[in-house]
Amino acid sequence: MKDSLEHIFLKDIYSKPGPNYVEAPENLADMVHEIIKTYYKHLLVELDDCSLLKSTFCIEGNEISSRNFLFQTNSNKYIAKRIPQDGNYNKIMRLSMLHKSLSVDLPIPSIVCNQNDELFTKGHDGFYWIVLEFVEGIYYDGYLLQPLEVIAKAHCCLHGRLGRDSFDESLFDKICYSMGDEDELWRFALQHHNTLDRYFMPEFASMIIDYKEKIEHALHFTELFTLENQNDALCHHDWHLYNLLIMNDKVSAVLDLESISISCPNISIAFGSFKVLRQYMVCHKYDCADAAAAVKVYMQNAYTTQMDADEINRYVKIELLRRIFIILRLGFRHRDTAWAYNLPMHIRGLQEIDTISAMYK
Ligand SMILES: Nc1ncnc2c1ncn2[C@@H]1O[C@H](COP(=O)(O)OP(=O)(O)O)[C@@H](O)[C@H]1O
Ligand SMILES: [Mg+2]
Repeated sequence: MKDSLEHIFLKDIYSKPGPNYVEAPENLADMVHEIIKTYYKHLLVELDDCSLLKSTFCIEGNEISSRNFLFQTNSNKYIAKRIPQDGNYNKIMRLSMLHKSLSVDLPIPSIVCNQNDELFTKGHDGFYWIVLEFVEGIYYDGYLLQPLEVIAKAHCCLHGRLGRDSFDESLFDKICYSMGDEDELWRFALQHHNTLDRYFMPEFASMIIDYKEKIEHALHFTELFTLENQNDALCHHDWHLYNLLIMNDKVSAVLDLESISISCPNISIAFGSFKVLRQYMVCHKYDCADAAAAVKVYMQNAYTTQMDADEINRYVKIELLRRIFIILRLGFRHRDTAWAYNLPMHIRGLQEIDTISAMYK
């Protein structure tokens, strides 16, 4: 048992402290300046020259993002987000609608309108642009217990609002937990277990083999092959540490509202809880006496209705399997391995959630 525990709760892509702001290369800084000068001139009132826009930074979360920019004027800091126009009308519409309505009573950054009083800008450069107030804060690093309570409360509060408010649902994507081909994909993986490195890099291919029984057990336990999709509410589907900012023991910002989609609240909340709690475990390891307390603090504050440990375990595994099968599907059907680097994180997650839910019992 000790052996297998040594391979879990390792630092992952969300374990690096941050955010880090990296000076933007000149071409990107110029692009942001051009947009601000053309559509957001009112932010520069005291300045007659765009070169006086002080500085522009890219933001480094798990990678240096080419979508989000921090820019500073003489008096303020803002975040500019860009989204390609092609195929993303619904995305920019839901993003602007959610920021506008949720920022009233949740820690969600408000939108700064353009000079025509519009929530977003259709730029001449092929991108939609949205400018947000900049919020100070850092990512939760897992050391302290106390922030878990405020993160869990924000989690619960956001889902409460999303469940109660009426939004235009046609703008949102639906999450499919089971696409109906998982059985076939899994049989394919087993039949080709000796040659999986034709599809994935050897370290990822061997992960699938090493954890074969764990995956198989999760497939049976979740009943994934026959699972009915239960998409009944809007949920923040990407509740992880880089989508939250913490300041003075409070959640100062909930970010990435683009990932709000129609899905199953229990799965979404259980999985988001898991992402936050695993970072606590990364810092404190499974033998820390506080670990069980951390799990309880989160679980008791994140849910309006309590779930038991087995339900949480099953919901987290459904989401982990959904993510694992997206990677297998892309690899086997399209020879696309762009997301395969996340495979170890999701596969180890199956073991990690067993450890966490055992503490919750
Ligand atoms: N309003 C904001 N105030 C401060 N930082 C922000 C704000 N919006 C985004 N960020 C920073 O940018 C990062 C990426 O933003 P996010 O909205 O999550 O976009 P992405 O979809 O690229 O992950 C966040 O982790 C955070 O550090
Ligand atoms: Mg994000």
